[in-house]
Amino acid sequence: MATVLVKERAPKSPARALARTITAPRARSRKLPVPQVAREDLPLSTIIPGDCVEAMRQLPSASVDMVFADPPYNLQLGGDLSRPDGSHVDAVTDDWDKFDSFATYDKFTREWLTEARRVLKPNGSIWVIGSYHNIFRVGAIMQDLGFWILNDIVWRKANPMPNFKGTRFTNAHETLIWASMGEKSRYTFNYRTMKTLNDELQMRSDWVLPICSGGERLKKGGSKVHPTQKPESLLYRVMLATTNKGDVVLDPFFGTGTTGAVAKRLGREWIGCERETGYREAALERIELALPLDEAALTTMQSPKAAPKVAFGTLVETGWIKPGAKLSAKKGTLNALVRADGSLSSGELVGSIHSVGAKLQGAPSCNGWTFWNIEHEGQMKPIDAIRQLYLLSTEP
Ligand SMILES: C[S@@+](CC[C@H](N)C(=O)[O-])C[C@H]1O[C@@H](n2cnc3c(N)ncnc32)[C@H](O)[C@@H]1O
Repeated sequence: MATVLVKERAPKSPARALARTITAPRARSRKLPVPQVAREDLPLSTIIPGDCVEAMRQLPSASVDMVFADPPYNLQLGGDLSRPDGSHVDAVTDDWDKFDSFATYDKFTREWLTEARRVLKPNGSIWVIGSYHNIFRVGAIMQDLGFWILNDIVWRKANPMPNFKGTRFTNAHETLIWASMGEKSRYTFNYRTMKTLNDELQMRSDWVLPICSGGERLKKGGSKVHPTQKPESLLYRVMLATTNKGDVVLDPFFGTGTTGAVAKRLGREWIGCERETGYREAALERIELALPLDEAALTTMQSPKAAPKVAFGTLVETGWIKPGAKLSAKKGTLNALVRADGSLSSGELVGSIHSVGAKLQGAPSCNGWTFWNIEHEGQMKPIDAIRQLYLLSTEP
């Protein structure tokens, strides 16, 4: 495997960066005009090594559009965990997750959230993911610091780890807090894109997505590179919903770089902070391999209708059907391109799998699931077959 060096840039003082601010172009849509930091002052596509609080202090104020943070959980695990067959369970026992007390954890949380708030633009937003161990403490501190909570998203794991001891309910979800800088700030929310991604039903705050496994899981010598690598589908939805193309996303707890890999695919800029050298190297190698989507696939829907058990968009964000893939119907005489939000484009037509199928046939309606075919393992199959494969793979 090619050696990838961790890219480091000399710290720049926030004052110098701010001295180079330019006035934003005329306010577009409902956004307020805000001073913008010149891009050259940001260490884009860089993982800043060391402690994230110190790392964020190197960044200019009001310079990033979104923060995605997956901080230590403070799991406080006592002893090893085993399955009923005696095999060892990979749990988070690393030093980066250890804190002496709740007070120490709270102090650290306040410090990094304060820096995240400083570097966020006034109309930016923040996502923090956590479990019952930490998310309530994090949420309270966010409110204390002035963040305005917009949603708490429940990521329901399609295939969670069982509770081996049988002493509690299976812990089958994590919570993501999504917050703006304040009650009045004009944060980005791509409502229409989310509705399209969800087969034209309003996207809800409970998301069923599989945990990171299979080929996506980074491994070295057969072992997981990182105990808490997040699935790309989760970041895909977060970024598609709350950022625009070219926006800058900062992840202070970069780990194996899930945020960077998805940002690159979706045409967003990224900056990471990570204290462990091994994770930084793994992340850079991974991001190097991530392929950005082309312009046509990246354009997302501005309008949409209908809803089965699995949304077509779920197949796209989980990678079962790739953005940019070609769908065909009527023995190849009708074709369409899959876009990043799960919409289709065919010539001038854009819409869902159902609406594009209907318009192409001049029909009042169409069941896109059985109408469209895709090449899978050398054979043309209805996209419904891929949906069935997805359902099978996520069965508990
Ligand atoms: C929960 S993991 C993030 C995993 C990541 N989302 C992924 O998909 O790979 C938290 C990461 O934060 C890093 N970390 C913990 N404390 C840190 C600190 N003070 N500064 C920078 N990185 C830190 C850990 O090394 C760990 O990789």
